Amino acid sequence: MPIDRKYPNTRLRRLRQNSSIIDLVSETKLTSSDLIQPIFIKENFDGEETIDSMPNILRFGITNALKEIEEIINAGINTIAVFPVIESSKKDSIGSEAVNKNNFISDSIKKIKEEFPEIILIADIALDPYTDHGHDGILKGDEVQNDETIKVLTDQSLLLADAGADILAPSDMMDGRIGVIRNALEEENFKNTILLSYAAKYNSKFYGPFRDAVKSSSNLGKSSKSSYQMNIGNKDEALHEVALDISEGADIVMVKPAMPYLDIIHLIKDSFKVPTFAYQVSGEFSMLKLAIKQEWLDEGVMLESLISIKRAGADAILSYAAKDISKEINN
Ligand code: PBG
Repeated sequence: MPIDRKYPNTRLRRLRQNSSIIDLVSETKLTSSDLIQPIFIKENFDGEETIDSMPNILRFGITNALKEIEEIINAGINTIAVFPVIESSKKDSIGSEAVNKNNFISDSIKKIKEEFPEIILIADIALDPYTDHGHDGILKGDEVQNDETIKVLTDQSLLLADAGADILAPSDMMDGRIGVIRNALEEENFKNTILLSYAAKYNSKFYGPFRDAVKSSSNLGKSSKSSYQMNIGNKDEALHEVALDISEGADIVMVKPAMPYLDIIHLIKDSFKVPTFAYQVSGEFSMLKLAIKQEWLDEGVMLESLISIKRAGADAILSYAAKDISKEINN
């Protein structure tokens, strides 16, 4: 029923009189449980170091990572996503180190879950930290091989599920990998391992700082991920990707990047009504953070960006600002 709204019967400003009333009728609220903190852990490294293109974000050796995770938990965050920074001497064309038993990330996951059993740990499934060409899969000539790559991703998934990862997040965009990984998990009795599919992952320039952070940008050079990540102009295709991943056994789907793709988040949540996450990626974070540091933008833009992502339909958000924002909203 359309309502006939007329001034002065209707004065929308009545509900904007003060912050208590504004809060009372607020439609979108961001809480700590909506936030996931990504964290970079560096192999053969003690201490912590800055990342030039990501203000305030650090690479941690495992000992410092454990301290950082304690801080993240104390800030009210329950979920982290770990990304390894691998020795360059261990990178090769097929990403062999990704599936080595007791490799750095599998050891790190064990240590983290031993010290913080209650934390929800998301492990990235992809080969780009391990390949000397920086692609997310196995390269033959200039072509990233879909089916060969899936085999390795499946082994990587079993290794990290066994190490104790609660959630596996394939971020590679190979076709069919969710189904194959799900079957392998069922067969090996990892029935409770959650699959968070990077379902609609665009071929975005906003990933640049992340590639610096995990030191894959020089490996990738001028090569592009356009043969597997989505065309930035496509929308119907995102629905197709998500439908396939749900049917193959994804528990949660993700859209990435977030702020430039709010329409996609909205469309997917509206169409499928399944748990839908969004990744506020490195470039989104860095541009806001740098402008805040320069005092060109008020620091409130970070919270505003996250609320807009939630308002679009995201159930949870990966953000490099998660810890700080969580502190801010709990104070
Ligand atoms: C690759 C991967 C990327 C990110 C997460 N996993 C980059 C890429 O696809 O090249 C980007 C995250 C970010 O920019 O913060 N498997």
